[in-house]
Amino acid sequence: MSEALPRIVQAGDPVLRRLAQAVPEEDFGKPELRALVDTMIEVMHAAPGVGLAAPQIGVPLRVIVLEDEEGRMARLTKQQRVERGRVPFGVKTIVNPTLRVVGDEQATFFEGCLSVAGWAALVPRAQTVEVTGFDVEGAPVHWEVSGWPARILQHEVDHILGTLYIDRMISRTFCASDEMQRHWADSTPAEIRAALGA
Ligand code: CO
Repeated sequence: MSEALPRIVQAGDPVLRRLAQAVPEEDFGKPELRALVDTMIEVMHAAPGVGLAAPQIGVPLRVIVLEDEEGRMARLTKQQRVERGRVPFGVKTIVNPTLRVVGDEQATFFEGCLSVAGWAALVPRAQTVEVTGFDVEGAPVHWEVSGWPARILQHEVDHILGTLYIDRMISRTFCASDEMQRHWADSTPAEIRAALGA
């Protein structure tokens, strides 16, 4: 049995608003960094969520984990999956990530955050991004991706820069998560914006 998992801190904790520190090169491959990443993956699975940044468990380091599984998109229609660019991918860990937007295409969908628990809002994001960084051992990571994985990456890299989705949301679409499910699960972003005056 593992020890009790750390709590996911909520908006209001200043660690979520600070610039996280880079992991020093000499710490790559060390047991402490591996343990941090293992814990983050456990916390992400337990939540459950599709991504987690180290500051969300109170650790001010530039480390993110993300994963999206088939089971998490089961409720979406095929068309919704295509519109969102939602495709399953296995666990990815990126240490000291740097993100670059590719092209100028944007996509707007509902987004939530484990550190703003119980809420969601429409958030415009770049459709395609390129991320570079390192894995736990210090090997270079490079990922250029579109759609939902690109949204998750932007969200998680924002966390290590002290930014939350509520800084980028279309604020009139801010919803309690269950109201979002009740009213908007089958609506397009354009319909939601029209109905909420956004
Ligand atoms: Co978040």
